[in-house]
This record gives sequence, C-alpha cells and structure tokens, in this order.
Amino acid sequence: MAIISASILAANLASLSEEVKRVENMIDEIHLDVMDGHFVPNLTFGFPMIEALRTFTNLPIDAHLMVTNPTDLIKGFVEKGATRVTVHQEVCYHLHRTVEYIKSLGAEAFVAINPATPLSTLEEILPYVDGILVMTVNPGFSGQKFIPTMIEKIKRLSDIRKHKSYQFKIAVDGGVGNENAVELVKIGVDILVMGYGVFRNPRLAQLREEILNASAN
Ligand code: DX5
Ligand code: ZN
Repeated sequence: MAIISASILAANLASLSEEVKRVENMIDEIHLDVMDGHFVPNLTFGFPMIEALRTFTNLPIDAHLMVTNPTDLIKGFVEKGATRVTVHQEVCYHLHRTVEYIKSLGAEAFVAINPATPLSTLEEILPYVDGILVMTVNPGFSGQKFIPTMIEKIKRLSDIRKHKSYQFKIAVDGGVGNENAVELVKIGVDILVMGYGVFRNPRLAQLREEILNASAN
C-alpha cells in the first residue's frame, strides 16, 4: 500500500503544530527537509525542528538530508526521533558505510538521487538499502514542477527491483500531487513525499482515497 509522507517545508510554519494536526489523519509520516545552503540553494531545519515535532506528533519522521556532510548529523537525527534517514548519493563517498551506519542505529536507510544522477550509480547499493528516494525536482524548494522524464526513470527502477527480487521501497519527492500521484503508485511508487500536495491541497482527502484505491488494484 502506498503511503503519504508530508513535507512540512510547504506548511505554514507560523502554526506548525496546528498544520500537522489538520492533516494528521490523512498522512502516514512526516518528511523533514534538512538543507544546508551548500548542497542545495536553501537553508531550512535542524535538530530543534525535529525536537519540536516530537512534542506534538508520534508519526514516523524521515530526515531528508540535503547537506554536503550528512554523516556527522545522522546520529543526532535518529536520537531525536527520526525513524528514517535519507542521504544523497551525490555527497556520500562511502555510501555503503553510511547506509550500514544508519541501519545500525535502528533507522531505515534510504538513498536519494537528484534528477540528473543516473540509476546506474545505485547498482552496488541496491541490495543494502531500505529504499530509494527519486528526486523528481531539483532539490531546494517546495512547489516546483515535476520533471516528466522522471516517470521513465522510476519505471526502470521498479523493473530492476522486480527482476532482481529486491525488497527496497521506492519514494518520490517533488511536484507530486493531484495530477500524478495515482500514476506514480501504478508504476511502483510506495512513498509519495508531498509538500504542496498535502498542506496546500483542498482535495487531500479525495487524493488519499484515490491513492488507496490505486494501491489496492
Ligand atoms: C525539495 C524537497 C521536497 C519538497 C517537496 O527539495 O526535498 O521534500 O518540500 O515539496 P513539493 O511536494 O511541494 O514539491
Ligand atoms: Zn525532501
């Protein structure tokens, strides 16, 4: 069954707890975009934000680390309540070590790739990961447009998973919402990360229904 991961970057941060409560029964987890102004052209959240989230929600939290040096931050995010850590292939020199480290801390280990990063760079890590996060926009901001050629990329990843009988999950992040969520589920996506699609979507309840139905078929 496909699930919804809500990216709080698109929420009204002036009232974050109310925002999360407003959508809590229509989402499955929280997606925390950690940006360092170096790997991506934006600055966002750090440890204080995950601590704040943990005061008002028990939902699983994915820490999506869009930073040049993720390794030093991993332990802190898990200790403060992240149930999954997502690191980018582009900045991990020793990706296998990093993935094993995340798992040793008791969290799920996901690897993210930017739109221009080929799937072939993941070949050796696929047997070890809990999931792959396919970036469907260039990371940095909420509310960007889904890059259409990513559909083909996701289909290829889904085929690789099938042919090799791998167990990893497929997540997508960026520009996902009413227009494309169902199609993404149909081609094998398990986790739909959505910012605007959750917090700025008047038909979220309907979309959730559609996603559940698409998962069942
Ligand atoms: C982009 C972030 C996303 C972003 C998604 O760099 O990683 O998680 O918040 O927002 P939407 O769904 O609005 O594109
Ligand atoms: Zn993200």
